[in-house]
Amino acid sequence: MKMVELGKTGEQVSQVSLGCMLMGSTIDAATSYAMLDCFVEDGGTFLDTANCYAWWVGNGEFIGDESETLLGEWMQARGSRDRLFLATKTGARLKDPAHIRNAQGDIPWEKVPGEYQGLAKDTIKRSVEDSLRRLRTDHIDLYYAHIDDRNTALEETLDALNDLVQEGKVRYIGCSNYRTWRMERARAISAAHGWVHYVAAQQEYSYLRPKPGVDFGVGAHVDGEMLDYFRANDEIALVAYSPLLKGIYDDAEKRARYYNWSLYDSDDSRVRLDVLSKMAGELGVSNSQLVLAWLLHHQPQVIPIFGMSGMAQYEHNMGALNITLSDAQMAELNAASA
Ligand SMILES: NC(=O)c1ccc[n+]([C@@H]2O[C@H](COP(=O)([O-])OP(=O)(O)OC[C@H]3O[C@@H](n4cnc5c(N)ncnc54)[C@H](OP(=O)(O)O)[C@@H]3O)[C@@H](O)[C@H]2O)c1
Repeated sequence: MKMVELGKTGEQVSQVSLGCMLMGSTIDAATSYAMLDCFVEDGGTFLDTANCYAWWVGNGEFIGDESETLLGEWMQARGSRDRLFLATKTGARLKDPAHIRNAQGDIPWEKVPGEYQGLAKDTIKRSVEDSLRRLRTDHIDLYYAHIDDRNTALEETLDALNDLVQEGKVRYIGCSNYRTWRMERARAISAAHGWVHYVAAQQEYSYLRPKPGVDFGVGAHVDGEMLDYFRANDEIALVAYSPLLKGIYDDAEKRARYYNWSLYDSDDSRVRLDVLSKMAGELGVSNSQLVLAWLLHHQPQVIPIFGMSGMAQYEHNMGALNITLSDAQMAELNAASA
């Protein structure tokens, strides 16, 4: 696997990050270990988790410790910590994950944003210790603010994160689900105080484009404005989550069932799917593989986070690394629009 620089840090990370969100909950330990082992054998270094993965899975048996705990156990079993670039996140853990569900065991999603722990200084200082313990390590390579917390001053969050870097608990900091202007404001605050700055932004990004003006709630989707920002600010790396929109690209039924499909159900998506499918057919690859290859050829540079539910998907999606797209093919994919 190719290595790429993370922003302008000088740090080399694998061109693909492995999404570990569902490891330890939906994905059992044996399958998780198999994927992690293969990823390392394939030259992967960059792992992505969070201190809340994945509390929403199941019927209340998970609280958000599961992914970090599994990774800690796997790294210890393999002695692999030093070969990895380990990213985790703070801020989107629930205050009381054991009591969020209603009497029927369902999650009242409209209440969830109000239940996030957020990014106050005390919360960050406590949660980093918990993550370090679960991950069985003394440092985190990249520590993201998981969601933008508009109730806490950015100064407070950035000051706390800067402290963690000075203390050696964290090597680099990043943000996730920040709008463009918030990334810029954070950059300006860090620069004014001489603090470390966000070197990566993890945002939702895929080949299909959401309809203009749709609401992603606490999420932030990459748009034209944000791409322009990344082009002009290469000290912050774009890390793309949910690159396959939960696996909808090769399966019309799955697309129709996708909980966010209404945000994408447009003529623009139909044109892009047509162009994608036609080119995938010519290349003899799947639509999913072509989406991942498109991200890997993208300018400004994107580091996609691959999420897979098992080894068959792992093998299939990693096939995207063998696809070479010409400038003309990239231009054709980029130009597709309605
Ligand atoms: N910062 C954030 O707020 C945030 C949010 C979400 C995720 N993330 C990170 O990003 C990672 C990836 O996110 P994601 O899981 O949402 O990614 P995704 O690419 O949107 O979806 C991955 C899912 O798609 C399905 N899939 C994968 N390959 C497929 C294929 N070849 N054909 C058909 N279906 C396929 C699998 O689900 P099934 O097999 O169950 O269908 C898999 O679990 C996570 O692990 C996490 O680390 C971050």
